[in-house]
Formats: sequence, structure tokens, C-alpha cells
Amino acid sequence: MSEPTIAAKRPAVLNLEPGTYHGCRCGKSKNQPYCDGSHKS
Ligand code: FES
Repeated sequence: MSEPTIAAKRPAVLNLEPGTYHGCRCGKSKNQPYCDGSHKS
């Protein structure tokens, strides 16, 4: 079994404006905690 990719081991505290945000669930994004499309590779 391969090791999981863990982006951080602490919560991300964010103050966001209303809108749509896509969070990274795979741990590979270089723009954590947001998805940058790296999950496709
Ligand atoms: S879900 Fe992680 S880069 Fe898209």
C-alpha cells in the first residue's frame, strides 16, 4: 500500500469572502488548501 500525501497536519484557518472555493482533498496541490488541478496527474 502506498503512503498517503499529507499537505499539513494542522488546521488551515482562513477568512474568506463569499464565493466558491475548491479545497484540495488529495494533498498534492502547491496552492494549499485549495485545489490547483494537481490531482489529475
Ligand atoms: S484535489 Fe488536490 S489538487 Fe485537486
